Amino acid sequence: MEEMYVEWSRQARSALEKPVPVRFNRGIRSVIVAGMGGSGIVGDVLSTLSSNYSSLPVITVKNHILPGFASREDLLLVVSYSGNTVETLRVFDSALERNIPMVAVSSGGLLKTRAYEHGIPHIQLPEGLAPRASLPSMLYGVLKLLYENNLLNIPFKIVEESVDFLEEKTGEAMAEAGLIAEWVHRSKGLLVISTHSPLESLGLRGKNEFNENAKIPVKVDVAPEWMHNDIVGYEEPFFKDFTVLEVVDPGDRVGVMLVDFMRTIYGRVTKSFHRLVLEGGSLLDKILYGSMVFGLSSCKLARMRGIDPLKTASIQEYKKAAG
Ligand code: F6R
Repeated sequence: MEEMYVEWSRQARSALEKPVPVRFNRGIRSVIVAGMGGSGIVGDVLSTLSSNYSSLPVITVKNHILPGFASREDLLLVVSYSGNTVETLRVFDSALERNIPMVAVSSGGLLKTRAYEHGIPHIQLPEGLAPRASLPSMLYGVLKLLYENNLLNIPFKIVEESVDFLEEKTGEAMAEAGLIAEWVHRSKGLLVISTHSPLESLGLRGKNEFNENAKIPVKVDVAPEWMHNDIVGYEEPFFKDFTVLEVVDPGDRVGVMLVDFMRTIYGRVTKSFHRLVLEGGSLLDKILYGSMVFGLSSCKLARMRGIDPLKTASIQEYKKAAG
């Protein structure tokens, strides 16, 4: 499983090399990204990037319901690595009924079949990966599609440079991942990822990676919203053991200050802290670096626990039950 993460820069490069499946000859009001779990995170990351670079609004749908406001002025990206996720397929079917312009993204499955049947453009993902480990294929495939359709306000240089950056930093990410895995393994308490806006999508990505690879529950705390609710929960916590993984963008002084403040509050209930300082120049670099560290550290933690990071038995159990 770890090799899949180590290959990320290669995945990103080959996604950027592929021709885009469609060119739109008209304006788009907003991009709606539908997907669950490891596929849905593409929408979260795009939404963070679009706020930061003032691109088109990006709305993320992580359920089976196509929003009522979706119209023919929008673009719906239907992302499912397997192409067989029931919620995502429901959104696809609703969009077909309502004639919403779409692009499907999958490695195969029913989504690919249905897209071909209905003449919906499809981005092909490499097969044989875990959805969560194929983030670069999905993200860069979509970034290229948006860029070539003039829907992305991010200078493409930033996108291309992030791939070189990822390649350069893989060794460092592995070393950092080793430290985090050992620290989490030793500390045992509930893992809390403490971070600051606009890193919500990265915090969520971290949670999902530790859930799925290391099979542990995780809580994500994001400042400054944290200061208006969660903070009170640490006054009299029901659970006593916490271990806090701080994630900061060193270029964001306010963000770092907020995470420092959070530590003063957590400090009343735990002494277990580790700080991941995100590397990189652009926000995209930082999100990818953090995601790679989370992927690798959660796999390493799984190995230390004698668990297979790849298997997600209960997700499969749910999918079987959901049909
Ligand atoms: C991640 C993972 C899950 C899936 C989710 C949706 O590796 O296994 O989070 O991403 O169950 O499935 P797909 O991505 O195939 O639509």
